[in-house]
Amino acid sequence: MYITSIKLKNYRNYEEIKISPLKDINLIYGKNAQGKTNLIESIYLASTGRSHRTSKEIPLVKENEEVYYIKIKGKKEDIPFTIEIKYKKGEKKQIKLNNLPVTRLGELIGVLNTVIFSPEDLQIIKQGPSERRRFIDILISQTNNQYFYQLQIYQRIIKQKNALLKKKDINKYIELLDVYNEKISETAFFIINERMKFLKKTAVFFNKYIKKLSNNKEFGEITYFSSLGNTMDEIKKTLEKNKKKEIRSNISLYGPHRDDFTILINNKDVKQYGSQGQQRTAVLSLKLAEIDIIKKETGYYPVLLLDDVMSELDISRRKFLTESIKTKQTFITSTEKKNYANFKEKTTFFYVHNGQIDKR
Ligand SMILES: Nc1ncnc2c1ncn2[C@@H]1O[C@H](COP(=O)(O)OP(=O)(O)OP(=O)(O)O)[C@@H](O)[C@H]1O
Ligand SMILES: [Mg+2]
Repeated sequence: MYITSIKLKNYRNYEEIKISPLKDINLIYGKNAQGKTNLIESIYLASTGRSHRTSKEIPLVKENEEVYYIKIKGKKEDIPFTIEIKYKKGEKKQIKLNNLPVTRLGELIGVLNTVIFSPEDLQIIKQGPSERRRFIDILISQTNNQYFYQLQIYQRIIKQKNALLKKKDINKYIELLDVYNEKISETAFFIINERMKFLKKTAVFFNKYIKKLSNNKEFGEITYFSSLGNTMDEIKKTLEKNKKKEIRSNISLYGPHRDDFTILINNKDVKQYGSQGQQRTAVLSLKLAEIDIIKKETGYYPVLLLDDVMSELDISRRKFLTESIKTKQTFITSTEKKNYANFKEKTTFFYVHNGQIDKR
């Protein structure tokens, strides 16, 4: 899978640009604050429907403008696809796929698969459970549309349930609460089991990289913790058993929206016990595993987006990453061209300066 053209209009600091990247490595270089990450972000947005830096749309619109527009053309094998995203302040984001309007975000996700490497990745390990849930949810959604739909349904019911739990006269609505819990158990069962299955598969690749990067001294595992359990019976029982507790707390306390997974190296949670280096290795391995799992599940390698990561890695890890990007379309941002001038892979250079991009 690869991108053949990118067009941006009033997106972040870009007024209007169009570039035609090549199948191999595309080096986006330039000084700080010129638009390198903004370009990467627009690709990620076309892939997942959202920015990796903000959940809001307004910051994406160029200052003093009203509408941003992104058009990305690409190919899967030899079948072309076109993604268009248009957002006008105060209105709903419009998405078109191959010229036809898309009403559900789920139809977009999975068309252009990407794996992003950015300095913020470390948060998957260091931050709380919501970062890890976001990671796994986006990853599974990229390979399984059904998962994304179920997730949306689940989130909608949780929202309704929370509104109900906040009512002062909640005791009048116990029957409705039971109806919500019944619906929750169905979607939760699906989500929990998909996450567990998927993480198990991802962990195999993850472990492969941990071993390689540590010269076989370390091994990696990933374990999922479900607050509800994972059989239908356990899920229903946990919800029933904690009904009063949830009523007292006025919020829904159990379910995939509260779950977490642990990343372990040599049986120890990297978040709690890992050194800086181990945490970096873990996050790099997790990202590399993401490439493998997308290939395994969809049959295509994803487009790789490397934002400012090479400079943070030591030589051996950098070599490793360089090896891994071979034969995949990759966008790399850097402030320096010279580090890549002798790159063995076929590289196209794009110079970014104040919202302008020139092929060099
Ligand atoms: N909505 C917007 N309208 C106009 N300019 C914006 C908007 N959002 C961000 N910018 C500006 O875009 C510029 C480029 O940002 P970007 O993050 O792409 O820089 P960069 O080239 O990746 O730099 P660095 O090397 O520091 O990471 C910044 O100066 C930022 O202030
Ligand atoms: Mg940047």
